[in-house]
Parts: sequence; C-alpha cells; structure tokens
Amino acid sequence: KGKSRSVFVCESCGYSDGQWWGTCRECGEIGTMKRCTTESVDEKVNGTQVSENVVRSWLPKEATPVRLSEVSSRIDESNWRISLLPLLFVNRPGVFGAEVERVLGGGLVPGSLVLVGGDPGVGKSTLLLQIAALIAEGNDADVPARVIYVSGEESVEQIANRADRLCIRTEELFLHSNTDIENNSGTINSLGIEDILEQAQPLFPRALVIDSIQTVYLRGVTGSAGGLAQVKECTSALLRFAKKTNIPVLLIGHVTKSGEIAGPRLLEHIVDVVLYMEGEKLSSHRLLRSVKNRFGSTDELGVFKMSESGLQGVSNPSEMFLGEQHSNSDYLAGLAVAVIMDGSRAFLIEIQALCVAGSSAVRHLNGVQGSRADMIISGIFLNVVSGISLTETSGDLAIAAAICSSFLEFPIPNGVAFIAEIDLSGELRMVPQLEKRVNTLAKLGYKKCIVPKPAEKSFPDAQLQGMEILGCVNLKEMINTVF
Ligand code: TYD
Ligand code: MG
Repeated sequence: KGKSRSVFVCESCGYSDGQWWGTCRECGEIGTMKRCTTESVDEKVNGTQVSENVVRSWLPKEATPVRLSEVSSRIDESNWRISLLPLLFVNRPGVFGAEVERVLGGGLVPGSLVLVGGDPGVGKSTLLLQIAALIAEGNDADVPARVIYVSGEESVEQIANRADRLCIRTEELFLHSNTDIENNSGTINSLGIEDILEQAQPLFPRALVIDSIQTVYLRGVTGSAGGLAQVKECTSALLRFAKKTNIPVLLIGHVTKSGEIAGPRLLEHIVDVVLYMEGEKLSSHRLLRSVKNRFGSTDELGVFKMSESGLQGVSNPSEMFLGEQHSNSDYLAGLAVAVIMDGSRAFLIEIQALCVAGSSAVRHLNGVQGSRADMIISGIFLNVVSGISLTETSGDLAIAAAICSSFLEFPIPNGVAFIAEIDLSGELRMVPQLEKRVNTLAKLGYKKCIVPKPAEKSFPDAQLQGMEILGCVNLKEMINTVF
C-alpha cells in the first residue's frame, strides 16, 4: 500500500490539485476545495474515469472508415425522423407540432439528445409534456409509441393535473417521478440516472424526456445533483444512452442565455441540439429558438402563445410586435412600420417618434425661420413598440419617417411600410432579404412599401397582390412621396 499524500479536490467538479485554492481553478466555485488522502481521491476520480471510458463505449468497436456514397444512400430522412404533426393536420401554420418541427429542422431525430433551456417558469415543462403527448399519440403507429416523461421537479400527480389541463389523454405516456420520497430533511428532488435508464429501456419508448438535468445524478460522480460535475456526467450518460438505443432524449435545463446557472453552457457542445425558450413575464408569447442543431439550420424561430390549455402555435406571427394603436384606424402622427428578419421569417415592428420643441427658455432667432430652428433644437424621442429591440439597419427609413411624421404632425396612413438603410448623405441603401420582407407585407394586406430605388422593379409577387412598391433614391424623395 503506497504512502498517502494530501491532495485537494473540488467537491463541486472533481478537479484535483496538490495545492489548496480558495477558488476552484476549474469551475470557479469558492471554498469547495477539500483535503483528501490519495486513496479517497482514487475513489472519487475513478468515478469520473470509469464514466469517461463508457463515454466511448457506444462507438461500435469495429468502426472503420466508410465510403461517402455508401453512407448517404443509407439515410432516408423523411421516414427516419419522428413526426410531431398530429394526424389530422397537414403542415398548417400555427399548429403547435409544426412550429416545433420547424425549429428542429424537421421531426425529432432518433438517437439525438436535445437540450431545452430557458428561465424557470417560462414554460419548458409544458412544452415538453405537449411534445411527449404528440409523439405518444403517434401518427405512424404500427409500433406502440410509448414516451417516458421523467420529472425530478414535480410529482406524477402534479404532472397528471397539468396533462389534464392540456387535454392529453393518450395511453402511451408514462410518468416517472421521485419527488415523493421523503427523508428527514424533506423531499429528495433527485433521480439516479442509472435507475431511470434501466427502467426506461424495457419499455422501448419512442422518446424519453428528462425534467430537468439539474435534478438527476450519477452514482460515483462527485458533487450533488445540479453541480457542475453531475450535470456534465449525466448529460454524457444520456448521450450514450441515446446513441446506443436510438431513443431520442429531450433534456430540460434551467438555463439562461448567459448561462449563469451551474454552467450549462458547457453542455452545449455535448448535446446534438440546443433550443432556448424565451418570453417576457407580462406577455403570453413564447419564442423557441434553436442555437445549435446538428440536423438542421439554427436560425429558425418558433412562436407560441401560452394559453389556459397550454402552448399554441401562433399562425400569424408577423404582426405580433405591432402596437395596439395600429389596429385602430384613428391615425397617429409619429408612427411608422418597419420589417425586421428573425430567423428566416419577417416580423413587422412599429417605430414611434415624438418630437418635442426644445425647452421653454427664450431663444433669440435672427435670420432663421422659426420652424427650422424648432426642428434643430427640438428633442426627439424614439421607441420601438412592444419592447423588441431593433438590431438591424433595415429600420432606418422607418425611424426617419416616424420622426418626419411626428414633426410635421402628419400621420402616415395605415398600410404603408418602410424598408431601407440610410447612409450619412441621406441616400437609401439595400438591405438583405428584401423580397421576403416585401412579400410578408403583401400577405398582410399592406398597400404601399417604400424601398431603395434599385429594388423598385423586383417584386412581381407583391405587385400581383396589388401592392405598390415605391423606390426612392434618398430621404427627400421619401418625404415628397409620403407627406
Ligand atoms: P412550466 O412549464 O412549469 O415552466 P418551466 O418548466 O419552464 O419552469 O410553466 C410555467 C407557467 O406556465 C406557469 O406559471 C403556468 C403557465 N401555464 C399556463 O399559462 N397554461 C398552461 O396550460 C400551463 C400548463 C402552464
Ligand atoms: Mg418545469
């Protein structure tokens, strides 16, 4: 037996060092480095080492390079993905499953590991329960499409209650929860992942949902459930399970985009797909965004509405950022509509400008026209209605139009929109995906759109729908055209 030496091991992530550090150099946790003897380190580190060997165990041993042509001919995407469209609906916009499918780049890929992140309370559990139900209701149901929903967050009764509210009545959805086990310190909100997987496999589910990664643990790994080492190892274990069994695993993580909580940013490179769910506290709209996708594009955006009976797809998302004033027909000065792109879709937003004549301080004007001086001295307030932030230059022209409208106290008629970038000399410049933006306007019944001059003739589709496309060279021309 070798002589034992002191080593310091981080309780949170398992990092070991010969020296003590106040802050773990691996995970940054404070005060987690604890002295251990070498034997106990072996024990602790072995846990991780063992699982790292297993990381590779799902790779077939005999894996050899394969000719490209032989690979691609084996894959037939269409009947390979698991469809999320309910039987009775074709790909109609606004259908819940269709929105999810678009974000995933098609149906759910068997054997994939999907992470759904988002702030607590945004609706992740609801989303995944609905997805689970869709798969369980199964449209290609020659095999029983069982789905297992594992929750370390809620009891089976709570989940059943929610399912009831969502009108989920499938026989094939199985719930698994451990939150009812009590010990003297209260409820244990954690689930051993080996047990979950062992019980899941004999049911041959079509999909497995884990709610959430922060509540599962792997025996032999340091730290408690939710800790860095656990979160990382559990995710790797689920990835191996998914690849080995070809059962897709959907994983919930309480994760904000900046990833403060338990560092789950580090999960992003382990999993195949990362979706983020976003929503504002006071609004019922929920956005589902794909930030990583090994099986599709990452600039799709799903739009949902949280209702009494769960999440519903939004059939006409282009209009959802428009302010309320716009639907009323009473004209207001200082409002102009711009078209922004998010993912592959165009959204309409409303820009609000308010020009306020300068302070009441006496101004001495000499040889300057009063109204011109007013414009120069006045303060201008700009606002994008409904809290979305305008990050692209395509809204420049709408901003200018809103300011002119407010200053002239001349409302811009309903049904007019503006798409262009403005350069420093006041010339209008082209913006990307102009055609998509214009077509969205046409679909919503807009009558006029101001675009940069060179683009004027290039929208046969929109013009067919009775829309007038007006090309302008610079701001002055725009003002003369609209006001
Ligand atoms: P939840 O899915 O529990 O969020 P997360 O898992 O991300 O923490 O849902 C959060 C909110 O959604 C909750 O405050 C209630 C609301 N909700 C509805 O408005 N309608 C519904 O049908 C359901 C199930 C939830
Ligand atoms: Mg939840």
